Amino acid sequence: MMHEPFPSFLAGRRAAIEARLHEALAPRAGFPERLREAMRYSLLAPGKRLRPLLVLLAAEACGSYGGGDPWSAALAVEMVHVYSLIHDDLPAMDDDDLRRGLPTCHVRYGEGLAILAGDALLTEAFALLAAAYPDPALCLELSLAAGASGMVGGQVDDLAMEAGQSERSLAKLEAVHLRKTGALIRSCLRLGARAACCPGTPPPDVLERLDAYGRCLGLVFQITDDLLDVTGQSADTGKRVNKDAARNKLTYPGLLGIEESRQRAAQLVEEARRVIAPLAAPRLEELLTFVLHRDR
Ligand code: IPE
Ligand code: IPE
Ligand code: MG
Ligand code: MG
Ligand code: MG
Repeated sequence: MMHEPFPSFLAGRRAAIEARLHEALAPRAGFPERLREAMRYSLLAPGKRLRPLLVLLAAEACGSYGGGDPWSAALAVEMVHVYSLIHDDLPAMDDDDLRRGLPTCHVRYGEGLAILAGDALLTEAFALLAAAYPDPALCLELSLAAGASGMVGGQVDDLAMEAGQSERSLAKLEAVHLRKTGALIRSCLRLGARAACCPGTPPPDVLERLDAYGRCLGLVFQITDDLLDVTGQSADTGKRVNKDAARNKLTYPGLLGIEESRQRAAQLVEEARRVIAPLAAPRLEELLTFVLHRDR
C-alpha cells in the first residue's frame, strides 16, 4: 500500500478523535446540562488534536509489545489540555477572548461556569483513565504531568514572570516551557506506550526513547506557539496574536529573537529525529516537521 501523505493521515485521525470526543460526555444523572454544554463547547471546538494523536502514535510504536487500547488515554489528555486552555484564557490569567476561532469559554458562558467546566474536564479525565486501565501508573503519569510540578507549576512561573517577579534568562524560559506545555506533551508519549502495553509495562528502552522525543517535541511546540504569536495570523491560529509582548510574557522570540528561536526549534527537531529513529515510527518523524512548520 502507498504511504498516505501526512496531511490526509492527520485529517483522518482528527476525525476519529473528534468522533470519540463527541461520545465522551454523555448526559447522566446529576450532570447539569449547562455544564455539559460548556464542556462540550470547548472540547469539541476545532483544535489540532495533537496530544491525543501523540498518544495513539506512541501506542502504535509499541504495537509489537502489547495490544492495549489507547483511546481512553487519548481522550483523557485532550480533556486535560482543554481544561488548561479554558483556565489559561480567564481574565485572571491571559485574559483572552478568542480560542480555536470562537469566543473563549468564559466569554460565552461566564467566568463561574468556565472555571467549573475546566474543573470538571480535569476530573473526568482521571475517571476515564481509572476506569480503563488496571495499571495505576497511567493516572500517576498524567497527574505528575498536569499538576504542581508539571503544567500547573509552569503556569505559575509564567504568571510570576509576567508580573516581573523572576529573572529573564534562557535557563528560566526553558524551565517554564518544559513544564507549562512540555510536561503534558511528554506524558502523551508515555501514556500511549503504557496504555498499549497495559496490564504489562513497555520495554524501558522504548519508553525512554519516546520520552526523550516528547521532551524535545514539547519544547518545539511552545517555541512555535511563541513564534506564531509574533508572526502568525489570527485567522489561522484561531486566537489573538501579538499578545505575549503586550503582557510582558517571557518567550523565545522575546528573549532570543525570531531567527535564533527558529534555529533552536530546528535543533530540537533533529535531536528528536535521532532519538526516535531506531523505533521505526515514520508518523512520529513526520509530525516533527509538521509542528516545526505549522501556521496554527
Ligand atoms: C495551545 O495548544 C496552548 C499551548 C500549550 C501552547 P494547541 O496549539 O495544541 O491548541 P489546540 O488544541 O490546537 O487548540
Ligand atoms: C499555554 O501557553 C499553556 C497552557 C495552556 C497550559 P500560552 O498561554 O502561550 O497558550 P496560548 O497561546 O494562550 O494558546
Ligand atoms: Mg498562558
Ligand atoms: Mg494563553
Ligand atoms: Mg501562546
